[in-house]
Amino acid sequence: MSAVKHAVMNRHSSRAFLPREVDEALVREIVDTARYSPSSGNLQPWKLYVLAGSSLSRLKGEVADTLARHPRGEGMGYPIYPPDLKADYQARRVKCGEDLYATLKVARDDRIGRGKQFARNFTFFDAPVGMLLAVDRSMGQGQWADLGMFLQTLMLLAQERGLATCAQACWTLVHETLERQLELPEELMVFCGISLGYADPEHPINTLRTEREPLSAIAEFRGFR
Ligand SMILES: Cc1cc2nc3c(=O)[nH]c(=O)nc-3n(C[C@H](O)[C@H](O)[C@H](O)COP(=O)(O)O)c2cc1C
Repeated sequence: MSAVKHAVMNRHSSRAFLPREVDEALVREIVDTARYSPSSGNLQPWKLYVLAGSSLSRLKGEVADTLARHPRGEGMGYPIYPPDLKADYQARRVKCGEDLYATLKVARDDRIGRGKQFARNFTFFDAPVGMLLAVDRSMGQGQWADLGMFLQTLMLLAQERGLATCAQACWTLVHETLERQLELPEELMVFCGISLGYADPEHPINTLRTEREPLSAIAEFRGFR
């Protein structure tokens, strides 16, 4: 299998990490290479904040304070999903959540159990590195697609180097705290967080393997002989 295919097929979101630090040089190399992601007009509309050690602890502490005062967060900095998610998409979302909680044996109606797991997002699942991907507020749909390019490139490069990741849109729920803590320039907003570290292979949550639609459902091939 080619290296790229191998990385694509073996990357899975990791939501539990080993307490093992990641070498700064390795993180720098990954981010440095992700710079070569394509973007429309080569705008490169991404800005990444990479936190470890005391910087990461400080941010997590501030976020924990915010969530203690406002358990539901500060409202969304942007809508993660459209307000009326169509049934097919909603079904996939629900299935993904159900499968996730099933790995932990958390029952469907166990709101406290689910809430506890969801809250772990805001510790970056104890990953040794937490990243926040920001974008200029003036950017439109095209540039947000570019952010996805950057994000996936970063995650595949991490995968290739034996690291695991989890992209996390939920960080938008504490966007005001992030903007303050990161001292973000006014014009920037956070798109998502990314946990980075060595996956804990023993943790049941990392056994989740999400499903994909078949090729015939996502692509149409025309004109081939
Ligand atoms: C932009 C983006 C935001 C995501 N946000 C979250 C999140 O807030 N919390 C979480 O646990 N997973 C999050 N995920 C992970 C998705 O749930 C996951 O990618 C999807 O279910 C497919 O599973 P896989 O990554 O293991 O292939 C996010 C993924 C992406 C690409």
